[in-house]
Amino acid sequence: MCGIVGYIGFRRAFERVLEGLQRLEYRGYDSSGVAVLDHEGQLAVQKTAGRLARLEAVVADGLPDSSIGIGHTRWATHGAPTDGNAHPHLGGGCANGQGHSVAVVHNGVIENYRSIKARLEVEGYVFQSETDSEVIAHLIDSCLKQILAAGPRVTDDITDAPCVAAVREAVSQLRGTYGLLVLFRDEPDLLVAARLGSPLVIGVGEDEYFIASDASPLAGHTNRIIYLADHEVAVIKREQLRVVHRDAGRIEPAVQPLDMAANDVGMGDYPHFMLKEIHEQAETVRAAMRGRIDHDNATALFGGLNLTPAHLQNINRVVLTGCGTSWHAALVGEYMIEEFARLPVEVEYASELRYRNPPIDKGTLLFAITQSGETADTLAALREMKRKGHPTLAICNAIGSTIANEADGGIYLHAGPEIGVASTKAFTSQCVVLAMLALYFGRLRHMSFEQGLTYIRALEQLPDLITEALKVDTVVRGIAERYRNANTFLYLGRQYNFPLALEGALKLKEISYIHAEGYPAAEMKHGPIALVDPLTPSVFMIPKDAVYEKVVLNLEEIKARKGPVIAVVSQGDDRVGQLADEVIELPACPDFLNPIVAAIPLQLLAYHIACLRGCDVDKPRNLAKSVTVE
Ligand code: G6P
Repeated sequence: MCGIVGYIGFRRAFERVLEGLQRLEYRGYDSSGVAVLDHEGQLAVQKTAGRLARLEAVVADGLPDSSIGIGHTRWATHGAPTDGNAHPHLGGGCANGQGHSVAVVHNGVIENYRSIKARLEVEGYVFQSETDSEVIAHLIDSCLKQILAAGPRVTDDITDAPCVAAVREAVSQLRGTYGLLVLFRDEPDLLVAARLGSPLVIGVGEDEYFIASDASPLAGHTNRIIYLADHEVAVIKREQLRVVHRDAGRIEPAVQPLDMAANDVGMGDYPHFMLKEIHEQAETVRAAMRGRIDHDNATALFGGLNLTPAHLQNINRVVLTGCGTSWHAALVGEYMIEEFARLPVEVEYASELRYRNPPIDKGTLLFAITQSGETADTLAALREMKRKGHPTLAICNAIGSTIANEADGGIYLHAGPEIGVASTKAFTSQCVVLAMLALYFGRLRHMSFEQGLTYIRALEQLPDLITEALKVDTVVRGIAERYRNANTFLYLGRQYNFPLALEGALKLKEISYIHAEGYPAAEMKHGPIALVDPLTPSVFMIPKDAVYEKVVLNLEEIKARKGPVIAVVSQGDDRVGQLADEVIELPACPDFLNPIVAAIPLQLLAYHIACLRGCDVDKPRNLAKSVTVE
């Protein structure tokens, strides 16, 4: 969703900010804007609805040559995606729009903006937009005027300077969530950032700082990063950075290494991020396993669970929660953990779990599964479980993200930045981490040493299996050409392949806008079979697994109704080869790895169909990479 970028240093701010915003495009947005200080010391703002390319065109002559600036990509919540509602918003000034003192970019939602707005209108402020964010700009101006009216302050501490005090006072009046970056007309060497519930990071350079809502704009510019925490306010000058608690004293910021190169956030030779990320999966599943396999004890190793062995041994139930693709990975994990660890697992949509009041006993362990670590519903579900005193762990990709920080412990995917909105490599890495958890809990309980070793040997084949699976690309592209005009697809599979059917259908609808439904293959008789006709393809996951014969029967039921069948099969399966209209052959693998290997052709099918239909694969309409609102 919304993205924030800021720069203060010695280079041209506009270019830095624009490049940063381009790297945040993947989060999803519908308008954008930038503000810098011009030569006369006035705030120069340009903003526009639509893609960043429009902003670039609007600013064709370039903004003033300033070395301080802020920018934003907005995903509309309060007010339509118009030029006027785009950020930055200006605070202060008079009715004719002149003389503004402050420019603000904001991520998050201000719940009490109406009452603040009413009060500010009485004070004479004139609002130009329908957003909740504009109140912050005027509120800071109002607080600043009051502070200045109270007379000069005697302080050497920049965190007490009037502009900073104004931001601290303003944010203490806000209810809701914010990641804020503030530029002052009268302070050419100052940016103020503040955070509550909406992430902000600061890249530390030599006499320059990069501020952003996630780490990707920093890549290639610095390898030192500060993750701002809730209630912290950062005071950023070219040669000095201070962090202070909103209502209390100084905080020594922890500067951490940033392991992200410019290549990681670029497309390389690929036409889309999604295709690049699909092709990275042999390496990303390897990264998920790296250092986590203990051959001597035939188990998995996790450094960050932060729970005692006694606690882990006494776990008698696991709850897995997440949204979207992460929820599908959780379903795969349910099959794995129940089969190999004999532990009962429940999978809950985070958006449901947060408001439900399920009975959860002391032996329950919650895992929040999330690529971004910022999904609002997943975060709320985690907080609710924590509040009730249950241990919470995160399976997360984004290092330093809110959920990674707030969970009691967790496991990082180490898949690198995932930029394509449709999740691909995060899904397979989540499944791999869940497979290792199944091994880990299995070995704490009933699984023998020998079974553990067999399981590990299977897991270690995964990168090669994925490399092999990627070879189906040409076959899948041919199928995409033949079925690109279908209006509805069914995705069907059983057992481990049921969650994959859901994920395959989600991929297709997300990026090609074709209606698609995933179902357990046998369950389709109870409804979806009514959709079957010669124009409605069914994608069957039908490897040579424990339910192979049963799924063949389901396939014949579709064929009897003249439905075209695209079958994802184990190499050399002539029987299904003769029944199905299209066949995608994959290397044979143990049942529990099939949803990981067979994810590859489903991702490729969605990708090629979307490309053939001319869809914007990496930035599908209405979707956001990181959904930070409820
Ligand atoms: C959005 C994304 C999906 C993602 C879901 C959960 O809807 O478009 O790709 O699966 O959020 O995101 P998370 O970051 O929590 O895994």
